[in-house]
Amino acid sequence: MGHRIGRGSGRRPGRPVLPSVRGAVPRAAELFGRVLGGAPDAVFSAPGRVNLIGEHTDYNQGLVLPFAIDARAQVAVRARDDGRLRVVSGQQPGETVEVNLDGLEPGAVTGWAGYVAGAAWALAERGHRAAGADLALDSTVPVGAGLSSSAAVECSTALALATLAGDRLAPEELARVAQLDENRFVGVPCGLMDQMASSASRAGTVLFFDVGADRTEHIPFDPATAGLVTLLVDTRAHHSLADGQYARRRATCEAAAETLGVDSLSRIAPGELDAALAGLGDDETRRRVRHVVTENERVRAVVELLRTGAVRDIGPAMVASHASLRDDFEVSCAELDVAVDAALAAGAAGARMTGGGFGGSVIALVDRDRVDEVGAAVTGAFARAGFTAPVLRLVSPADGAGADG
Ligand code: GLA
Repeated sequence: MGHRIGRGSGRRPGRPVLPSVRGAVPRAAELFGRVLGGAPDAVFSAPGRVNLIGEHTDYNQGLVLPFAIDARAQVAVRARDDGRLRVVSGQQPGETVEVNLDGLEPGAVTGWAGYVAGAAWALAERGHRAAGADLALDSTVPVGAGLSSSAAVECSTALALATLAGDRLAPEELARVAQLDENRFVGVPCGLMDQMASSASRAGTVLFFDVGADRTEHIPFDPATAGLVTLLVDTRAHHSLADGQYARRRATCEAAAETLGVDSLSRIAPGELDAALAGLGDDETRRRVRHVVTENERVRAVVELLRTGAVRDIGPAMVASHASLRDDFEVSCAELDVAVDAALAAGAAGARMTGGGFGGSVIALVDRDRVDEVGAAVTGAFARAGFTAPVLRLVSPADGAGADG
């Protein structure tokens, strides 16, 4: 069986079922008791995310529209009074990492535990308290699927450590702590979108985040009212080039902004685009700039459509976003393109890659009663292309980081 389709999909009896991510529940408290012993003081969690539209715009001070999904990283935590972290993870059985917080610097802890130690470091760096703790981490956010498994770990851990120390961080500050962890401790030059989505999202809404204006707004997003579902296709492609390419795209954008005499590419209004492009020397840079400026416009258009409840009508903007990421920004790959093309050919209202690209996932807006056909079409196209079978799920907007009890 190539695919399984589901949740509320109006499927006929005997049809295969695609589970939503809701099925999987992280069990950090249980892991805590089993491996670290005793009971945690508290349990926190933070979600992964998809981005509806607005890709590679965040580090250009532009517009993004992500939402949290119902797959989460959960952390069970108990205070220690010796200034040390002791960390275990359900995804790294048999490993316990111990870290001394005194004098902790980037580079001291690498691998999976770096995200956790980096949260403590980033809290202190931004003037918050972070004390020693025992932490058990368990996550249902798939790694390498472009769903921000790292932001989920960073946000849940930073929230746990801050709360334990008696600090209440606003969602945006939590996101900034998590981003600092990723930028400086882990060493990935990401923007702020993923951490904001993981921290500040609310169920039933997409998070309209204007990075340059430092403004967020929760826009209702309920595809079900239009008879639609959001289908997530994890292509299971993970290209190792991704990190270097991400940094290169970012550097190209920053250099172009400097050439054009603006502090970021998002300062360029659509009506100024042609003049800006004329001021740039090479074709590759022109295409990168065109992507950023047009993508911001597409986010604006989608937000206006969602405000009027016209969910289905956002499809063309999703398709145009994908084409721009494929042709102008050049961050797509064969698996993402095949998934998008197959979904659209089978009747999806819209489809695009989501996240940084070079692998990862596609989101498609699909009629509830066509989701079987679309899923089968994508799975079939992958088989014909000789790709690993994709993983299909339905996703819907979930809450951001919080206490689990
Ligand atoms: C990754 C980064 C984000 C953002 C996206 C592309 O997910 O972590 O900051 O730049 O890529 O939109």
